[in-house]
Amino acid sequence: MSPAASIARIYRGTPPNLAKLARCLQAGELVAVPTETVYGLAANALDAKACRKIFMAKGRPVEDPLIVHIHSLTQLFEVAKPNDAALRLAREFWPGPLTMVLPKKNCVPGIVSAGLSTVAVRMPAHPLFRRLLQRVGVPLAAPSANQFGYVSPTTAEHVRTGLGKKIRHILDGGPCAIGVESTIVDLRKPRSPRLLRPGAITREQVEAVLGLKVRSGRTPSAPPKSAQVAPGLMAQHYSPRTPVTLRSRLSLKMAARGTAKDAWVFQAKPRGELDGNIFWFDLHGKIEGVARRLFSTLRALDAGKFKRLHVELAPGEGLATAINDRLRRAAAKK
Ligand code: TXA
Ligand code: MG
Repeated sequence: MSPAASIARIYRGTPPNLAKLARCLQAGELVAVPTETVYGLAANALDAKACRKIFMAKGRPVEDPLIVHIHSLTQLFEVAKPNDAALRLAREFWPGPLTMVLPKKNCVPGIVSAGLSTVAVRMPAHPLFRRLLQRVGVPLAAPSANQFGYVSPTTAEHVRTGLGKKIRHILDGGPCAIGVESTIVDLRKPRSPRLLRPGAITREQVEAVLGLKVRSGRTPSAPPKSAQVAPGLMAQHYSPRTPVTLRSRLSLKMAARGTAKDAWVFQAKPRGELDGNIFWFDLHGKIEGVARRLFSTLRALDAGKFKRLHVELAPGEGLATAINDRLRRAAAKK
């Protein structure tokens, strides 16, 4: 095998493949897994040595804690100390794209929680990942399966492109149905929950279940430079390599003033004469379709020869808030 070749194998979700991947995880190996949000890079959450491999493979600073994925409420009580508010949200939104930050139990190693006294927990809905979780029998820590700093993966092929030389196993569950990472809610103080990251489950939905205002909070502070585990990676944007400019509205008139090096990415297919580099996230601008194709569109355009991506923001609230959050990160310069 040439040094440039991928070592990762993509597995279909057959029962023998799931059994094999479960054994790999039990043995402390990494497996990339499909979820309904984005692909994750999983390891046994109770095995510090296995979890350390996640940080190595991704080039992720160890100050950035991981999400622990569970199969059942029994496992929730094994890894965390849930309060009533958490249990209410779990009943309403799990399995699904909601992650809750809660006080952790001792069995969760410090490498998973970045030394914090809390752990982020989520019960995913993807049927293949659920079957794998059930077979493995332990919770799985998994961040998004991309190189640190790059666009999150929503297909098995995206994972292979980014991490194919670093990992051996990728479970193919098809393109992710939602396409943006889970909503993260900090529930350490159940009377004052905080929204740490917007996702498909909206702030309004969480507020309706809790009967409380949910204010915005911050994820653990940005890792210091010294935390670099793979020098050079941090120089990339948390985003495509191609610079991104955001606009609340794009028009074909604007696009006509661009050069061959400009790409114009609309929410919906624009009406009119489409010449030049005109793209769209969803034919009709349907917000779920935009979310589903957000990262794959950015990746595809990043692989083109463009000098700049001009991207239209999503109108409205709800899922649009999550989409625009990711677009703003994609546009942010280091
Ligand atoms: O949809 C998702 O959440 C995907 C799939 C794979 O489940 N995972 C994901 O993981 O997006 P990652 O590592 O890319 O993002 C996890 C976020 C990080 O921003 C991290 O700071 C935050 O979760 N996080 C993890 N543990 C935390 C904790 N104890 N307190 C606060 N934030 C935490
Ligand atoms: Mg990520």
